[in-house]
Amino acid sequence: MSQATTPQKIYLKDYTPPAYAVKKVDLDICLYEQQAIVSSRLEMTRQAAGELVLLGRDLQLQQVSVNGEVLSSAQFRLDSESLTLIDAPDRAIVETKVIIKPQTNTTLEGLYQSGLDDEMMFVTQCEPEGFRKITFFPDRPDVLSEYTTRLEAPKTFKTLLANGNLVEAGEVGDDRHYTIWHDPTKKPSYLFAAVIANLQVLQDHYTTSEGRKVLLELYAVSQDIDKCHVAMQALKDSMKWDEDNYGRAYDLDRYMIVATSQFNMGAMENKGLNIFNTSCVLSSPETATDERSFNVKAVIAHEYFHNWTGNRITCRDWFQLCLKEGFTVFRDQSFSGDFRSKAVQRIEDVAILRSAQFAEDAGTLAHPVRPESFVEINNFYTATVYEKGAEIVRMLANLLGKEKFRQGTDEYFARYDGQAVTVEDFLSALSVADERVLAFMPWYRQPGTPVLSGGVQYEQDKVVVRLAQKTRHVPNYDAPVALPIPVDTAIFDSNTGQLLAEKMLLLTTDSAEFVFDGIQLSEGGHPVVSVLRNFSAPVRLEFDYSDEDLVRLVSFETEGFNRWQAMQTLVNRWLFGSFDNVDSIAGLLKTVTDELLDCDPMLAARLFDVPSQKELAMAYDSDYDPVAVKARRDEFIKLIACALADKTTTWYQALPIQAYEDTPLARGRRLLRNVLLDLRLLAGDAAAEQDVYYQYDNATCMSERLGAFTAIINHDLGKKSLYIANFYEKFANEDLVIDAWFNAQALSSRTSIDDIAALMQRQDYDWNTPNRVRTTLGALAAKPVQLWTQQGMALYLSAVERLDGSNPLLAARLLSALARWYTLGDDTKAMAQSNLEQLKQKVQSKNVLEFLDNMLTV
Ligand code: ARG
Ligand code: ZN
Repeated sequence: MSQATTPQKIYLKDYTPPAYAVKKVDLDICLYEQQAIVSSRLEMTRQAAGELVLLGRDLQLQQVSVNGEVLSSAQFRLDSESLTLIDAPDRAIVETKVIIKPQTNTTLEGLYQSGLDDEMMFVTQCEPEGFRKITFFPDRPDVLSEYTTRLEAPKTFKTLLANGNLVEAGEVGDDRHYTIWHDPTKKPSYLFAAVIANLQVLQDHYTTSEGRKVLLELYAVSQDIDKCHVAMQALKDSMKWDEDNYGRAYDLDRYMIVATSQFNMGAMENKGLNIFNTSCVLSSPETATDERSFNVKAVIAHEYFHNWTGNRITCRDWFQLCLKEGFTVFRDQSFSGDFRSKAVQRIEDVAILRSAQFAEDAGTLAHPVRPESFVEINNFYTATVYEKGAEIVRMLANLLGKEKFRQGTDEYFARYDGQAVTVEDFLSALSVADERVLAFMPWYRQPGTPVLSGGVQYEQDKVVVRLAQKTRHVPNYDAPVALPIPVDTAIFDSNTGQLLAEKMLLLTTDSAEFVFDGIQLSEGGHPVVSVLRNFSAPVRLEFDYSDEDLVRLVSFETEGFNRWQAMQTLVNRWLFGSFDNVDSIAGLLKTVTDELLDCDPMLAARLFDVPSQKELAMAYDSDYDPVAVKARRDEFIKLIACALADKTTTWYQALPIQAYEDTPLARGRRLLRNVLLDLRLLAGDAAAEQDVYYQYDNATCMSERLGAFTAIINHDLGKKSLYIANFYEKFANEDLVIDAWFNAQALSSRTSIDDIAALMQRQDYDWNTPNRVRTTLGALAAKPVQLWTQQGMALYLSAVERLDGSNPLLAARLLSALARWYTLGDDTKAMAQSNLEQLKQKVQSKNVLEFLDNMLTV
């Protein structure tokens, strides 16, 4: 195999506006058994200097003409990435005809086949650069055009969908038919979508605040259509929420969502025609856990919110990806927080930020929220762009407060509607409400997680909070500067637990002191200061709380996130050896569980959280020993289980299985019950095994069933093989449930690398379905003890190598989980390095090569 040449880097500083505008696009896609023929007509006009360049990849060009004249080969240049028209006129009607092969397109970008037999469908994924795999086009987000799309296919595909409104449908001969769609809103090519399939539809309506009656349609294969109701309700809730909270109403007469089983990411916000991974749209109590069902709602909201933050106002270039993703994630998080306890929402969002984004920011793939260069833009759909991007918007929203933030976003929508803009434009609009917004620009430019440290001094009624920040210097970037860090702070009385003061502190320099005057303490009491409440900034906190004050905060902090955080800090201190009183942690868990059992069982369940092995690995920049970390973590959980043995059974019994309900309370009860089941088994509770089987056999929903199933596997219970067979048989036709079946087995620490390899050898392990591939590889990545062995790495990297040829986007994402290999102890590190270097000799895609290059530069 030839080794690929070093891929080319693209820089933000090199941005130039497009030479030509494309006013109108007429696209005609005719699908045949082995190929599709795509004809396009572009109305182009010059608007800046430069050649007329159309981008295209894997296209067989049949013909190109300009203003009606077919071009000879001397009139254009064609290479593997582009088609350049030589001496093109300033006004050009450019027509091209190409052949593409969606049937064999395994990359899941452009137009591709998903599913087989009667579930076979053809769908598109154009963001970021997939449109050029359908036709020649200036495929960049700052070229906005009006699209008309004609789709033609055999009548066996009765569903023919594209963006916008249906304007015509008809037959072509006896066995083919067509539809024509027109999208009146100007859009970039990455928002183009088409679907050729045979689907059922669930319909509903929504009348917008502006009085527009919108037809809502959810499309899925027939066996899944009854699993679309959760998504439909979420769509209506989202439409209402965006009207209420941002004053944004939907702008077309039709909103369609299509579910497809083969999809690289979660979902895609194509104008008026979202395409969704089945895992992010299908939900029923029997087949989806509460967690997945809640995620369905969040993703539906996310894609819907993109209609304004992304589609109506889009990105000037892909470096600005966070402009739409950060803002939209913040919006979907806020939406989700309105449908459950705010604290639990925040806990979950922060957990994701910490485990995925902090690790990224601390490793070889660290990059700013707005990157300055890339080789492959698909590699930048990262936790940093999405989650840290959302945190920046959250800081601004909190700083401005509800009214001013709304004033700022109103300004943003009014000023830039219909345009492709930058992060600077976003901040400039928000700054109308408060000039301090502009100081946040460095958050977009500077990689690395700031460490916020500090402490407290007090004298009589005066309390001084010291804060300092430090960000590591990431190689190849400028020396870090001080960032504006909002630190939401409260002061409590150590004796009474009374809240004495609350204030948002804004640290803008390397260090500062903040003075609270007039703090009235009780006799002998001291101030207990709680900082970074609600996780008011995406930083690593090193505040010198005393152990006793953390214990106090767990009992009287009124803000749920910091209450949870105080508990997490104690757990971390135990795990890292600076706090040894496990009984005090167990005692706290006893009290809070008793307190929350009836009112907020979800928060109670979260208070039992122990940082994952991956998260704990973050604490090491060298000499990381996965075996020791896991042993310490297991020891802790076992100690807690034993210390609470007298309570866990009682609590479990207080939460009997009840008829299924989808409310925060019912979801919380189900989660807590599963947490307790696990603890009981760990403590060796004799009755627990029967309770597990009972819960599985009598489950009213997937959360109960999967909770029991996972416990059976993790604790290697006697009837394990029986239940593995039973689960499979029951859900053999439900791909997403079978994914959970693979995942539960692969995740268990009792499942060896050989066992995982065996799962991957099965007939039903489909390498072309990313959801299935991730069930085992995602699990292996979550088990550092297995991953970081020669055998584990060999299995993992052979999968990356295999996918490098068929689905480079997925291959690179899987690879990125290994970015902190260099923190391992010496021998393991050498082993990891040589495995990565060997991989480099075998891969071709720029996705994987870009990551490998970065990962091997330490
Ligand atoms: N814009 C999509 C979202 O809602 C993500 C699509 C990314 N797809 C990809 N192939 N990189 O977040
Ligand atoms: Zn998005």
